[in-house]
Formats: sequence, structure tokens, C-alpha cells
Amino acid sequence: MLKNSTVMVTGGCGFIGSHLVRHLVERSVKRVVIIDSLRYGDPGNLGAASSAVEIVKHQIGIDTPEPLHEAMKGVDYLFHLAAEKHNQSKDSPITVLRSNVEGMHTLLASAAAEGVKKVVFSSSLYAYGRMNGAPFVETEVPHPNTVYGISKLTGEHLLAHFALKQGLAYNALRYLFVYGPRQFAGMGYKSVIVKNCERLLADQSPIIFGDGKQTLDYVFVDDVVDATVRALETEVSGEVINIGSGIATPVARLIETLISVSKKSIRPSFEPADWTHGSFRVGNVEKVKKVLGWSASTSLEEGLRRTYDWIGANS
Ligand SMILES: NC(=O)c1ccc[n+]([C@@H]2O[C@H](COP(=O)([O-])OP(=O)(O)OC[C@H]3O[C@@H](n4cnc5c(N)ncnc54)[C@H](O)[C@@H]3O)[C@@H](O)[C@H]2O)c1
Repeated sequence: MLKNSTVMVTGGCGFIGSHLVRHLVERSVKRVVIIDSLRYGDPGNLGAASSAVEIVKHQIGIDTPEPLHEAMKGVDYLFHLAAEKHNQSKDSPITVLRSNVEGMHTLLASAAAEGVKKVVFSSSLYAYGRMNGAPFVETEVPHPNTVYGISKLTGEHLLAHFALKQGLAYNALRYLFVYGPRQFAGMGYKSVIVKNCERLLADQSPIIFGDGKQTLDYVFVDDVVDATVRALETEVSGEVINIGSGIATPVARLIETLISVSKKSIRPSFEPADWTHGSFRVGNVEKVKKVLGWSASTSLEEGLRRTYDWIGANS
């Protein structure tokens, strides 16, 4: 299906997008077109794959849309990953809305006009809004409490709208906490994993805020790419699906695993609780198993080892 097709990847120079693009190039997809503002991403993330793709520098929702319409010509499938993310842009809600809502509308209108056959959208756990409670399940009524989360939920609704009005096929994936090599390319917010890998590499104690019971669902980027491609290739359309490991990992266990991966005899240091105190954000992964036949296969230890080694080799 993908092999003889032209695929557009928005945000293809970012963390997850660059892994997806490398995968598509390895699979000898006929043509890959990347739309990226290059504000947070870097063509360097693509490695050797950069010479096999076309990169259009364009800020969706901000720049005039003509180059986007031009680039959409001949596109069969669209992976939409470009977004202003929560921590990068929480002080600039208008930019979030223009990029993630207005820009997504422009993108989907262009895709529908050019006869794109299917869209896979990278939504987020932030669409749910909750900070704790039972694992997130796709059937619950979401109450996003950030402009970013609102923008992601709106993106899902825009897809449903274009499916209804113009027959555009799609799936929307609510990613949980994605980690792996090339996460954080030098700007914005550093995740707990990146920050503490860097500390361990510098022989400093990793930091745990509060009691270390804050719990997240970590999912390795290669697994996320696999799920994302499956969401395109499946005959199923119009679904919202969690993409997570389904495993609840308290931050204290994460740090313990990271220390063991580093093989250093360092103990964590504890600092006062922060805004994450008492949080529990994990995905229910029954639907993805059923609909896409997918479950995360990389263990936390293996994923952290690959991330730690990459940060070590690239810092
Ligand atoms: N990383 C995670 O844990 C996670 C979790 C949930 C959802 N997501 C979603 O997955 C997608 C990819 O995330 P990531 O972690 O790779 O982020 P990233 O910031 O590394 O990549 C996003 C890319 O999009 C580009 N971009 C941003 N706004 C743009 C715009 N208006 N027009 C064109 N390009 C633009 C950036 O320059 C960057 O290259 C995003 O949509 C994000 O919301 C990520």
C-alpha cells in the first residue's frame, strides 16, 4: 500500500516525525514530502534519509497556505504530526490555536481537495485533560484543561467533520509519553528522561520530585512509529485510539531503571514535590490491541538503554 505511494509527513523533522520518515524511506515508499517549520525540528534528525525526501519549510496556520496546497498535489497519504506542543508554547496560546486548529483545518481542506486517501493524526493524552484516576479510555468524555489539549481534541473533531462532509478517511492516535533517541533537539522543554540521562552522564544524581509515585505510561518511539503506520494501513477508519504501553511506571521506578542502565553507583536525590505530585496518567490499551493488533514491544529497560546510549553518543 505505502510502497508505490506519495506520503506527506508534517513535522517530519521533529522527534517522532524523523523516526517515521526514516522508517518510510527504509520501506522504499515512492516519495516522501515533509512539511516542517523547522522551529523545533532539524533535517539533521533524518540522517541519510534526508537526501531521499523533499522538505518544504512551512509553518502551518501561520504562513500563507499556497506552498502547502502546492506540496499536497499528488499526495496519497498524510501523517499529521506537526504541532505546537504544550511545553513549547503554553505562553503563546494564539500560536497553538493558529497552528494546531486553523492550520489543521487548512491542511485537511487541502488534503480533501487533492484526493488524499487517508490521514493519520498524532493526537495526545492531553485531549483527556485528567491528571489522575483510572487509565484513560477512548469512550470517556474528554475534558482537556490546556489550550494544547483543546487544540488536539479539536483536531480530532475536524477530522470527523472532513470525514463526514468530504469522505476523508482517518484515524487519530492519542499518544501517551513517547521517548527515545533524538527526543529534544535542543529547544524547549526537556523530559524527565532526557534531563536525568544528561545528569547521569555527567555523574550527577538524578532528581526525583516529591515521593516518586507520580506515574506515567512511557512508550518507545519505534513502537509508536509501528502503531502509526498500522493506523494508516488498516482498513479501519474514523477511530480515536490510545497509543501507549499500558504500563504504569512511577517516576521512582523509572529513575531506578535509568540508574541500572547507566551502570553507575549513584543514588537519586529527592527534591520537594512539584505540580506532578499525585498524578497518574496511563492509557488503557485494549482498543489498540483489538483494532490495530498492536501492543508496545520494547521493554522500558531496553528503550531507556537505547535512549541513554544515544544521548551519551550525541552530547
Ligand atoms: N512526544 C510525545 O510524548 C507526544 C505525546 C503526545 C502527542 N505527541 C504529538 O506527536 C507529534 C510529534 O511530537 P514530537 O514529540 O515529535 O514533537 P517535535 O516538537 O519534536 O516535532 C514537531 C515538529 O513539528 C514542527 N512544527 C511545529 N509546529 C509546526 C507548524 N505550525 N507547521 C509546520 N511544522 C511545525 C516542529 O518544527 C517539529 O519538527 C505532535 O503532534 C505532538 O503533539 C507527542
